[in-house]
Amino acid sequence: MSTVERTFIAIKPDGVQRGLVGAIIARFEARGFKLVALKMVTPGKAHLEKHYEDLKEKPFFPGLVNYMNSGPIVAMVWEGLDAVKTGRTMLGATNPLASAPGTIRGDYCIQTGRNVCHGSDSVESANKEIALWFKDEELLSWKSAQEAWIY
Ligand code: RTP
Repeated sequence: MSTVERTFIAIKPDGVQRGLVGAIIARFEARGFKLVALKMVTPGKAHLEKHYEDLKEKPFFPGLVNYMNSGPIVAMVWEGLDAVKTGRTMLGATNPLASAPGTIRGDYCIQTGRNVCHGSDSVESANKEIALWFKDEELLSWKSAQEAWIY
């Protein structure tokens, strides 16, 4: 059954440097998801290590943290029906070469280590990530005038 969810989506430093912020936000807006939190941040190594703590034993972990720490990140929370799974589908596969055209990674990048965006992989991770990146008061509940035309 589909439920209304919130998911954490981030535009990684390469996505920001390459001027893809508007294009990525536009896809979520146009799909009908609601933006409930947004900020541009350079959160620092400790925060990024916490965000990716499940991967800390992986050989690529130090490189991943350096990449994520290499410039500003746009952190967002998007809300809507099945937002977590649908967000991942919109992002595409972790390896952009395996991402279908029409997905963000399938349209905008080539290499796993520069895959421009992040999306929560489960409702549980989304809740953890939202709590890590945002304070409660940064999460806005608001009524979108478009909702009656989306649902
Ligand atoms: P993300 O968390 O960033 O949305 O990515 P994901 O779930 O699709 O993939 P995950 O396995 O959690 O990996 C997190 C990020 O680490 C980088 N990575 N590099 N060099 C490598 O083999 C490798 N594997 C993963 C990618 O930036 C990936 O998005």
